[in-house]
Amino acid sequence: MPYSRIVGLGHYVPETVITNQYLSTIIDTTNDWIVERTGIEERRWINPADDTVANMAAKATRMALKRANLTEKDIEFIIFATITPDYFFPGSGVLLQRELGLEDIPALDIRNACSGFIYALSIADQFIKTGMYKNILVIGGEIQSTALDITTRGRNTAVIFGDGAGAAILQACPDEGGASIKDRTSFRKGILSTHLHSDGRYAEELYVKDPGSSRPHSERQSEQITDTTTYKLVMNGNNVFKHAVVKFMDVINEALDANGMTKNDITLLVPHQANLRISQYIKDKMQLNDSQVYNNIMRYGNTTAASIPIALSEAWAEGRIKENDLICLAAFGSGFTWASALIRW
Ligand SMILES: CC(C)(COP(=O)(O)OP(=O)(O)OC[C@H]1O[C@@H](n2cnc3c(N)ncnc32)[C@H](O)[C@@H]1OP(=O)(O)O)[C@@H](O)C(=O)NCCC(=O)NCCS
Repeated sequence: MPYSRIVGLGHYVPETVITNQYLSTIIDTTNDWIVERTGIEERRWINPADDTVANMAAKATRMALKRANLTEKDIEFIIFATITPDYFFPGSGVLLQRELGLEDIPALDIRNACSGFIYALSIADQFIKTGMYKNILVIGGEIQSTALDITTRGRNTAVIFGDGAGAAILQACPDEGGASIKDRTSFRKGILSTHLHSDGRYAEELYVKDPGSSRPHSERQSEQITDTTTYKLVMNGNNVFKHAVVKFMDVINEALDANGMTKNDITLLVPHQANLRISQYIKDKMQLNDSQVYNNIMRYGNTTAASIPIALSEAWAEGRIKENDLICLAAFGSGFTWASALIRW
């Protein structure tokens, strides 16, 4: 059975830097509050004249293809994780396909918020293991800034979220595994396992309500679009935080247990960049070293499905990911959904 390896990573973030200082001039907040509670110093927000989710994804894809020594024509399937597609429908996958000048290949959108990239990676992994495709493009891309309530009323979310895109090229590679699970994982390169979860009881703890199709006809019509609150991102931050710290650790341990490994085997944990305090809590609880956890939330905020591939791409470019390293990805977010992946590079 073939295995999947990530052979190329790329990312793109919009040019416009939004500092905490700038936000404190338009809403009632301070740099100190934001840094202390979230670790975020700045984030990137799009200029609608320049960027769309699909064109940011195309820029990230071209970087990933170049690093993988591949071209657009090598891509056989696009899996696009986003909760902020350019259109309500169709999804961003087909728009990216068009941006890349490709025709006919399948494109699938995944709507699992901050866990979306790991869900997409897991789906790509299954398609590679069955032998159906050899090169799959997996994307996480988001424009959150245009859905934020950038007023004092929305300050608990306005300061957190950012825009950007990250890309990974998954390629089929031959199985070089040994006999037992433990032996096999020490030999095999690529994605060792993925672990996906959800709990819809908490769907409204972090969500954008509209344009929701379950509204009566009279409420989905144009005059309702001026009802600003339901089109904005709403989050119960305390409850999200409490669940996140538990589920992040559960799903990381699940991945380690499934492969007969311990936290000491992890070279680099790349958590979804939700909040620096969440990453630090996990690091302390799991007794990981600073060098074992990658964070870039300081510069980009929380970019939802884009955060893990942007972080992976930067970590790789900085030389923090080398051949044979054990990389753990972990995410938690709206749904609630949570997921992990263990990768031997
Ligand atoms: C959002 C979050 C940073 C808020 O931090 P917190 O310590 O929980 O703060 P609270 O929500 O309890 O709010 C404390 C006070 O700060 C205020 N506050 C909220 N946002 C603020 C801001 N940007 N600037 C200043 N004050 C702010 C609140 O209004 C509240 O004031 P009050 O005590 O007068 O009512 C935090 O809950 C969090 O990070 N949660 C997880 C979010 C997350 O990871 N989401 C993504 C998941 S994928």
